[in-house]
Amino acid sequence: MTQDLRQFAPAVSRNREIIFQNLKDRIPAEGSMLEIASGTGEHAAYFTVRLPELTWQPTNFETEYLISTEAWRQHTARKNFLPGLQLDASSGYWPTDADSYKHAPFDALFNANMIHISPWSVCEGLFAGAARMLADKGQMYLYGPFKIEGKQTSESNIEFEKWLKTKDPSFGVRDIEAVCDVAERNGLKLLESVTMPANNFIQVFTRS
Ligand SMILES: C[S@@+](CC[C@H](N)C(=O)[O-])C[C@H]1O[C@@H](n2cnc3c(N)ncnc32)[C@H](O)[C@@H]1O
Repeated sequence: MTQDLRQFAPAVSRNREIIFQNLKDRIPAEGSMLEIASGTGEHAAYFTVRLPELTWQPTNFETEYLISTEAWRQHTARKNFLPGLQLDASSGYWPTDADSYKHAPFDALFNANMIHISPWSVCEGLFAGAARMLADKGQMYLYGPFKIEGKQTSESNIEFEKWLKTKDPSFGVRDIEAVCDVAERNGLKLLESVTMPANNFIQVFTRS
């Protein structure tokens, strides 16, 4: 019997439907999506099944997650679910920058729950890469918790940040204003801030 290498993240089973409902009318149904930090690969699986004309490029920093993403790709067996690529968002050169890579530029970029659980240089690399990867009028969707004007939006996010700092002092819930500064330095601007359950947001950026 073949071993099932799919991983299941409890947070994804809670958030994937509401993220899908909020993104489906914003993303081009026949376009292309670059996902940074695909984790288990469950968001890729959920979206590619529901939007069969949307080409989805998953990526992962960690090999363990690439294995799970590949298992999800085989499980869903969708031709629009591309094989995952190893990608470090903080790098100035992504595999999707290669001349031989044929799916760029992308109509959209999706990144969930990464910039608070990685050093700030990863957020900077994410926006620099988005500027290189997005087509004209392309949009970037950033899902996760944010501070507003330096203030946490809930008690639970205060506790969450304390926990993040025990993992690595460079981690932390990011201030949306600081994220917007990075975006603007890279030619992107905040278009919309969508409030989501459990003190999260989808921040929608566009190439300006
Ligand atoms: C909390 S998980 C979120 C995974 C997935 N997006 C989700 O919402 O379930 C954080 C992710 O950030 C990724 N990550 C951390 N540092 C990274 C980096 N420098 N470049 C790309 N991904 C990174 C981790 O590998 C992991 O997949």
